[in-house]
Amino acid sequence: MKKRTLGPCVTFFPQPTTIISSVSQDGQTNLMTASWAGIVSKTPPTMAVSLNRGRKTYENILHSGEFVINMIPASLAVEADYCGVRSGRDENKLANASLTLEPAAKLAVPLLAESPLNVECRLLREIELGEYRLLLGEIVEIHAIESAFSANGEIDTRAFDPLVYLGGIRQYWNLGEKCADAYQDGLRLADKK
Ligand SMILES: Cc1cc2nc3c(=O)[nH]c(=O)nc-3n(C[C@H](O)[C@H](O)[C@H](O)COP(=O)(O)O)c2cc1C
Repeated sequence: MKKRTLGPCVTFFPQPTTIISSVSQDGQTNLMTASWAGIVSKTPPTMAVSLNRGRKTYENILHSGEFVINMIPASLAVEADYCGVRSGRDENKLANASLTLEPAAKLAVPLLAESPLNVECRLLREIELGEYRLLLGEIVEIHAIESAFSANGEIDTRAFDPLVYLGGIRQYWNLGEKCADAYQDGLRLADKK
């Protein structure tokens, strides 16, 4: 495969599109788009998100010790982009994007009601990375949209329709088709025992 070197940069994809909800010292909820977010441990269930130390969201999380990572569906691409280009220091993003909130189960920080998958996190640890802070959050609850579940409890991915971010190229795409079953189809290549 012939390749071109890009140098040290942040071109890597796919990334999730998430909106983080957080609450300020004066009780205002803020929304911020973050694609540098993901699950980093199963035991204990942990999510990491990397925030520039100048973000209003970072200030809010340091103060409250809590945040919610809301998965964003493709239908909210424009709203997500908006929450990633303006700061809650200057604008009420919730009102301008016509997004709404609902109470979390374990935290004071609310969930984004329009998100089909919300992860409630308690701040565990912070790791300094130059201008950025990698925040590790203990997952204390997850909410998944009811309509995604069949009668026997199986999840239909299409109900989530996650918005995929292409970091470096700065584009949003949707998920596309399923290619294989994880932890299963790869076994066809394993040594037969
Ligand atoms: C698609 C997208 C992904 C982003 N991901 C991150 C991220 O992971 N970390 C970060 O610090 N900023 C990220 N940003 C930038 C912030 O969302 C942006 O600076 C925002 O205005 C900060 O809001 P706040 O000051 O209200 O917290 C992203 C922006 C976009 C459009």
